[in-house]
Amino acid sequence: MMENLKIDHNEGILTIAISRPEALNALNLKTLSELITVLQQTYEQKDYRGIILTGDGEKAFVAGADIKELSALSRDQAKAFSQNGQRLFKLIEDCPKPIIAAINGYALGGGCELAMACHIRIATHDAKFGQPEVNLGIIPGYGGTQRLAQLVGRGKALELMMTGDMISAEEAKAIGLVNHVVAKDDLLNLAGNMMTRILSKGPVAVAQVIRSVNAGYSFEYPGYEAEAESFAACTTTADFKEGTDAFIEKRQPRFRGE
Ligand code: CAA
Repeated sequence: MMENLKIDHNEGILTIAISRPEALNALNLKTLSELITVLQQTYEQKDYRGIILTGDGEKAFVAGADIKELSALSRDQAKAFSQNGQRLFKLIEDCPKPIIAAINGYALGGGCELAMACHIRIATHDAKFGQPEVNLGIIPGYGGTQRLAQLVGRGKALELMMTGDMISAEEAKAIGLVNHVVAKDDLLNLAGNMMTRILSKGPVAVAQVIRSVNAGYSFEYPGYEAEAESFAACTTTADFKEGTDAFIEKRQPRFRGE
């Protein structure tokens, strides 16, 4: 029984809804560790053939890493925090069974990064995407600096990460961040239909497609290490304290560059 995940198993397809409605499904450490457990089971168990990942409730897919948890980390803890998320997201990206993100609302920060680690992204018209970490005085720490550039190109990725702007599902589709945009009521149906089509193909061939495509974006790439280092470095600044305090106190931050 998972505390923060609602899991439904139907004909080999696990539909996992991240469920922390009080925090717009933000990823705290408990949720990450529950996701790791389900991923490991999916790697091992023959009757788990694919995953649809979504957010519980009407408003959010995932609104990011849990800012309240994040605000209390030391530099070393922040690096480990980043690497822990990077490892989980890599397990998702490398899973030999298909994983579709069904994005039903805010996909921000770690939420956008989670969606990007999945193999395919389908979003509702009212979904919103962004990497707003700079508003807090930090950077994406769950692989976003790498995967956003891979999906949308370096120029647009830099713009999104430097401005922290939120974009609509239509814009996300136009830049290649999501594959399809659908009405709310059709989201899980479309994701389910696409999953069923994929599962009707040769499973070994599907796994080898994932393996071959990912081989071109090897995890050994130094960008991930740089991301974890830079993420941790940001957490030692006064600006990070100001950024997270401002979020928690629901006010605008005043950054001083130190
Ligand atoms: N972490 C912790 N709590 C969060 C959260 C987060 N990422 N996002 C939202 N919440 C909480 C809010 O604090 C609020 O809780 P209270 O009711 O106890 O105050 C509750 O969820 C509802 O949120 P809002 O009142 O803010 O809802 P809204 O509709 O006014 O705004 C929003 C929605 C624009 C998504 C806004 O919540 C928001 O900006 N959230 C933060 C987004 C963000 O910065 N994400 C990046 C996090 S850092 C990260 O992810 C680092 C990384 O790469 C690893």
